[in-house]
Amino acid sequence: MTLILGIETSCDETAAAVVEDGQSILSNVVASQIDIHRRYGGIFPEVASRQHILSITPVVEEAVGEARVSWDDLEAVAVTYGPGLAGSLLVGVNAAKGIALGCGLPLLGINHIEAHIYANWLPSLPPPALLPPKVGGIEGGGGKRGGSIVFPVLCLVVSGGHTELILMSGHGQYQRLGGTLDDAAGEAFDKVGRLLGLDYPGGPAIEQAAQYGDSTAFDLPRAWLGDSYDFSFSGLKTAVLRIVKAHERQLPVVNLAASFQMAVVDVLVEKAKRAAEEYGAKQILLSGGVAANKLLRQEMAGRSDLPVLCPPISLCTDNAAMVAGAAYFRYQAGYRSGWDLDVIPNLKLAREVQ
Ligand code: KG4
Ligand code: ZN
Repeated sequence: MTLILGIETSCDETAAAVVEDGQSILSNVVASQIDIHRRYGGIFPEVASRQHILSITPVVEEAVGEARVSWDDLEAVAVTYGPGLAGSLLVGVNAAKGIALGCGLPLLGINHIEAHIYANWLPSLPPPALLPPKVGGIEGGGGKRGGSIVFPVLCLVVSGGHTELILMSGHGQYQRLGGTLDDAAGEAFDKVGRLLGLDYPGGPAIEQAAQYGDSTAFDLPRAWLGDSYDFSFSGLKTAVLRIVKAHERQLPVVNLAASFQMAVVDVLVEKAKRAAEEYGAKQILLSGGVAANKLLRQEMAGRSDLPVLCPPISLCTDNAAMVAGAAYFRYQAGYRSGWDLDVIPNLKLAREVQ
């Protein structure tokens, strides 16, 4: 039994979790700063790092207490060291170093994007006992058609900071196929949410408004960018802005929210589907905050012939269970970080290729 303490502070969530053998979540504590950043309509980096300093000790203590384990039971401390906001990452990395040094435990620096991907290995419904037998890997998150992960898989990581298409051919083996050239998918949701006068963060607010809207009401642009697996959402955002300006007196919020959501989902789904086919992926794995979007989950599963796995909604947005989950596989493979581990705000997953 390997118990790993995970710590995550890359953005605006202070999180700590204890995970057993990369699959069993004993505790998963997330202190969200959303209420604090709401008044700014986005994340205020300086405020985020100060808030992490206030929250990190109680959050870690709560995670260890809730897991009903003692510090002596832990085998390693894992922490996100990039990509993310420098000041926010620093708080987690330094806390992790202090705990690891104090308890005589190894330290593992984890890439935030890798952690999002590994949220798919954490348990979800149906419970693990009901999942099909292992096939070429360990049991994964409950998706539409089964809970086992079989490499190679096509990973679509969509969050507030990232939109990445990655081919994963084994544990820790990644090939980046494309990514956003401008705004990340979640960032586009957040900015359009603001244009529509919706609450922050825009993603869940747009999803909620879109329920009552007609997704064909506005013919919004899709940036296909030819054969490339890159994404661009700035043209779509500008198109929404133009419509908002033209309808200043009576903004068709729900129809615009639904049309925007469909435009984003269309591009994400079609590119992920095409990449999976071209590279012979056996499954498609969704992850990141935007993977909480029900339309994206439904359309991805409905339009692809491949099994589509996605983490439970609570594990799509930032959390530390996914950090400890990813760390388990690295720990097993002998990966350790030195005490000179530093934050890398623009850390790329490609650097992690083994
Ligand atoms: O993964 P995450 O918690 O943080 C980053 O690593 O960036 O993702 C947060 C992002 C925000 O942009 C938020 O608007 C978006 O995920 N998001 C959603 C939904 N829930 C969160 N976007 C669309 N639909 C949702 N239901
Ligand atoms: Zn994230």
